[in-house]
Amino acid sequence: AATLTVLGLESSCDDTAAAVLRTDGSSVDILSNIVLGQQELHAGFGGVVPEIAARAHAEKLDLAVEAALKHAALDLSQIDAIAVTAGPGLIGGVMAGVMLAKGLAAATGKPMVGVNHLAGHALTPRLTDGIAFPYLMLLVSGGHCQFLLVDGVDDFTRLGGTIDDAPGEAFDKVAKLLGLGQPGGPLVEAEARMGDPERFALPRPLLDRPDCDMSFSGLKTAVLRARDGLVAAQGGLYAQDRADICASFQAAMTDVLAEKTRRALKLYMDRAPQAPVLAVAGGVAANQSIRAALERVGQAAGARFLAPPLKLCTDNAAMIAWAGLERMRMGARDDLTLAARPRWPL
Ligand code: KG4
Ligand code: ZN
Repeated sequence: AATLTVLGLESSCDDTAAAVLRTDGSSVDILSNIVLGQQELHAGFGGVVPEIAARAHAEKLDLAVEAALKHAALDLSQIDAIAVTAGPGLIGGVMAGVMLAKGLAAATGKPMVGVNHLAGHALTPRLTDGIAFPYLMLLVSGGHCQFLLVDGVDDFTRLGGTIDDAPGEAFDKVAKLLGLGQPGGPLVEAEARMGDPERFALPRPLLDRPDCDMSFSGLKTAVLRARDGLVAAQGGLYAQDRADICASFQAAMTDVLAEKTRRALKLYMDRAPQAPVLAVAGGVAANQSIRAALERVGQAAGARFLAPPLKLCTDNAAMIAWAGLERMRMGARDDLTLAARPRWPL
C-alpha cells in the first residue's frame, strides 16, 4: 500500500495538540506528538474555563502544527490528509481546531476528516498494539468515564459509565478539599501511599446495582464530611489525616472501578471474543492502584490487559490522526460543512 502521512489536531479541552503519523499500510510511526498544555492558565479557577481555553487554542494551534511538522521534518505539502477533533468538548476550542483544519485542507487541497474525541481514545490500542476488534475499553479521565465495547472503527456500544462526576474530576476535587495542588490525581495518589485505606469507611456507590453504571459525587461528599469532622474535632488536619483520607478515597475508587469492570468484562466475554482484550485510556489509568486492580480483573477473566503509554492515554493528537486514518480507510471524508459539536455521543 502507498505511504500515507496524516496530520492530527486536538483542541477539545485544555491541551492544544498536533501530531503527524505515517503508515505504509502495515506499520505505523508517530513522527511527532506535540501537546501544549494550558493547565497553568486555569490553575486559579478550580476547573477549565471555556473562554480562556478557546482563546489559548486559537493562539497556539498553529504553533502546535508548526512544531509537529518541524519535529517530523516535513512541510505541509508532504501531508496527505488532515484529521481533527470535531467534538465532543468545549465548543470554542473544538471550533478553533475545526476551522484550522478547514483552512489547511482548503489551502493544500488535501482531504480532511472529523474525529470524535472519544473514538480517538477508544481506538488508541490499535495504534499502539495493533489489536483486533472486538475489545473492551474503559475510558477514565477528568471528563469521561465509560465502558465501550469496540466492534469496529465506527461501532461502539456503551455498556455503562458515570452518572455524575468522572473519576479524575473526583480526584481533583478531593485534592482541592485537602489543599493539595492541581491536577489532583497524582498528588492524591502520592498521599495515599503513606495512608491507611481502612481508616475511613467511604461509600462504594452503585455497587448494589447489577449494571455497569457508576457514581462518584457521593464519594466526594463523603470525603468532604470526613474532612469537616476532623476539622471540627481537632481544629485542623494532620498530615496523617490527609494521607489516610486519600488512601481511603483511592481504595473506594479502585473498588468501584474494579467491580464494574468485572461486570463489563462478563458482558464482553459472553460474546466469546477470539483474543480478549481489556484496554484502558484516560489520565486516571496512570494511577498505579487502579491500574493494578484492573489488570487483576482482566487476568482473572482471561483477558489481556492493555494500557497504552501515558502520553497516548491522555489527550493528544496522535490518537486523532490515527482515528482519522482508520476512518479514511473506511472511506470517510468531510468537507467544509464539517460542524464542531459540543455533544457527540459515540
Ligand atoms: O485524560 P486526561 O489527561 O484529560 C482529560 O480529562 O481528558 O485526564 C486528566 C485527569 C485529571 O483529572 C487528573 O487528576 C487525572 O486524570 N489523573 C489521575 C492520575 N494522573 C492523572 N488520577 C488519579 N491518579 C493519577 N495518578
Ligand atoms: Zn480526552
